[in-house]
Amino acid sequence: MMASRSTAAVAVVLALLVASATAQAPAGSVWDSVLVINSGGPAVMAANSTDGFDYLADVYYSPGSLTWSQPAPVPPQHQSLRYTNSGPLFYTVPVPTPGYYRVNLTFNELYHQGPNRRPMYVGIGADHTMTAPYNDSGLVVDDTSVLDIWSLAGGSQEVSVSIVFPSPSTGVSEVWATSTVTAAVFRAANSASTALPMLGTLQLLKAVPGPNTMPMATPTPAPTTAPMSTPAPTTSPMATPMPPPMGPNQYMTLQEHRNAFAASDFVVPLSSIIPAPGSMPAGSNVLPATASEFPVLAMRDLNVAFTHVDLAADTHQVPHTHPRAAEVLLVTAGTVDVWFVEENGSPAPRLLRNTVAVDGVALFPRGLIHGVACTAGAPCSFVSTHTHADPGVVSVGPSFCNAPLADVAAALGVPESTAATVCGGVVSPLAAAQPSS
Ligand SMILES: *[C@@H]1O[C@H](CO)[C@@H](O)[C@H](O)[C@H]1NC(C)=O
Ligand SMILES: *[C@@H]1O[C@H](CO)[C@@H](O)[C@H](O)[C@H]1NC(C)=O
Ligand SMILES: *[C@@H]1O[C@H](CO)[C@@H](O)[C@H](O)[C@H]1NC(C)=O
Repeated sequence: MMASRSTAAVAVVLALLVASATAQAPAGSVWDSVLVINSGGPAVMAANSTDGFDYLADVYYSPGSLTWSQPAPVPPQHQSLRYTNSGPLFYTVPVPTPGYYRVNLTFNELYHQGPNRRPMYVGIGADHTMTAPYNDSGLVVDDTSVLDIWSLAGGSQEVSVSIVFPSPSTGVSEVWATSTVTAAVFRAANSASTALPMLGTLQLLKAVPGPNTMPMATPTPAPTTAPMSTPAPTTSPMATPMPPPMGPNQYMTLQEHRNAFAASDFVVPLSSIIPAPGSMPAGSNVLPATASEFPVLAMRDLNVAFTHVDLAADTHQVPHTHPRAAEVLLVTAGTVDVWFVEENGSPAPRLLRNTVAVDGVALFPRGLIHGVACTAGAPCSFVSTHTHADPGVVSVGPSFCNAPLADVAAALGVPESTAATVCGGVVSPLAAAQPSS
């Protein structure tokens, strides 16, 4: 395939190969998954992917590219691909922090059925801008190793082919990147016009010190003679010995951690928040968002929680408190009765009560007993944001009834048998309205 390329382009690539050969992660480094993208498809949470990775919805892909998908039995994260009708398919992925990177590209041949219908080759670049006319100059490429995914998968659409780039035959084992890593898939030279470049998933891998990583005696510069490279960093992050490993992401600073979140991690459709287990009155649900549905909730210092609540008509979210959080509630459907009881004071704790309609916002101060009832004979919905990542819930009825029966009876001023009957009917967290007499 080399014959199809200009001498100038070959010279550029060779210069890059020679320069990059000196840029290597310290011996003993291990490769951490920074992010995984489901090309051409939606986010697939770890619980639903067959390999336990949390896949981002498709992002960072080249303009004008298209998507294709095939349903099961292909595993969820491999049911879609992204492709282009002309030119290469490329992804330009922001890196969390300067370092040595590789990409792990996974392909399923979801469309063609037969060998050599889609011969492709891959290029990888660091801090590289793809500009039209899109070609592979400035990328580390091995265009002699043509990928025929159908054949590599043994003639199956369901079998994935994962390849880590740069491939060893380029003589480069990783790239040093300070801002972005570009992975580009090209149509092999002289292939049919229907051989459109595609990709199934993209994983960005970063070198981090492993248990036996050698500290570097001298800082390792970035490639300096490569035409597209940015200036070498003045100090290498690998220059000082690293502490022993302590767990996942042990070397990520808070800023690196923040940078690893994509724009799509910051939004969530309410409909995707999975109901908490437990029996609720029909038509009602309390849906606390987790990081699986709303990835940004896993951000280290974010310290908020978010819940979506649906209440059937005349259902009560029974009295409870959040020991560590205030709650701000926005009504999105129906009309709710909201209340809280102030802390002990003189002359007596106050009951503060309001009726809130759609678009109304109510606040419950931290730690106070409060409740919400869906009134007006129609279903209600609201979203609540809590001012702590782990607000905690104490349901007043069950907690009170978990106290010794003699104390419950004493507090209610009734015989223990009556207290036992009352506590026998306690329901949480939601309950249907009861007759007033
Ligand atoms: C993802 O997994 C959750 C929990 O395991 C399940 O409830 C949900 O239906 C799954 N979503 C898809 C699209 O399969
Ligand atoms: C490469 O990506 C595939 C699909 O995302 C994944 O299953 C596999 O474990 C990855 N390989 C490495 C070395 O991370
Ligand atoms: C490759 O694209 C660049 C722009 O990114 C252009 O300057 C260069 O001439 C192109 N090379 C070839 C061989 O087409």
